[in-house]
Amino acid sequence: MPDPNLFDEGDPSQWRLAIRVLAMPADTNAAGDIFGGWLMSQADIAGATVAVQAAAGRVVTIAVNEFRFVSPVAVGDLVDIYARVQRLGTTSVSVEIRAWARREMDPESRHHVAVANITYVAVGADGRPRPIGASRKKQ
Ligand SMILES: CC(C)(COP(=O)(O)OP(=O)(O)OC[C@H]1O[C@@H](n2cnc3c(N)ncnc32)[C@H](O)[C@@H]1OP(=O)(O)O)[C@@H](O)C(=O)NCCC(=O)NCCS
Repeated sequence: MPDPNLFDEGDPSQWRLAIRVLAMPADTNAAGDIFGGWLMSQADIAGATVAVQAAAGRVVTIAVNEFRFVSPVAVGDLVDIYARVQRLGTTSVSVEIRAWARREMDPESRHHVAVANITYVAVGADGRPRPIGASRKKQ
């Protein structure tokens, strides 16, 4: 169960800690700050873990509907990325994503770093969209 203080809307139990990852020096840009693309990549991976489960199989990312960098990520931050299914379509799953960073020097702290919404499409072995309900019925 995620910390209820982290979520200001809806039922906190709907959110799942999808991934926890350490921001490393190799993830910085020329100015020494964590590169936004690194966090986008981590959010995409986090959302995919939830989408794969919801779609009961392989998914691909079709659209980043929203991505907002709320505050910066620093080297040494431990980044927790939470995700929940927002909408289940015929072949698509839209996932809401929220990320918090714990500073290396202050591990009890929580800094809201990103908000995202990403849509994934369930695909079959041919890479074409596959109805999610059909795959669930087979299981
Ligand atoms: C994902 C892919 C198979 C979809 O094929 P397609 O013929 O465009 O699929 P469709 O038009 O039937 O749409 C499939 C679903 O995506 C949804 N969708 C399409 N465009 C969308 C968009 N811009 N935003 C959100 N959802 C979208 C559709 O509404 C549909 O959902 P539904 O079945 O739940 O109603 C194809 O676009 C693809 O292979 N894209 C590349 C994916 C990829 O490589 N991602 C990683 C990038 S490195």
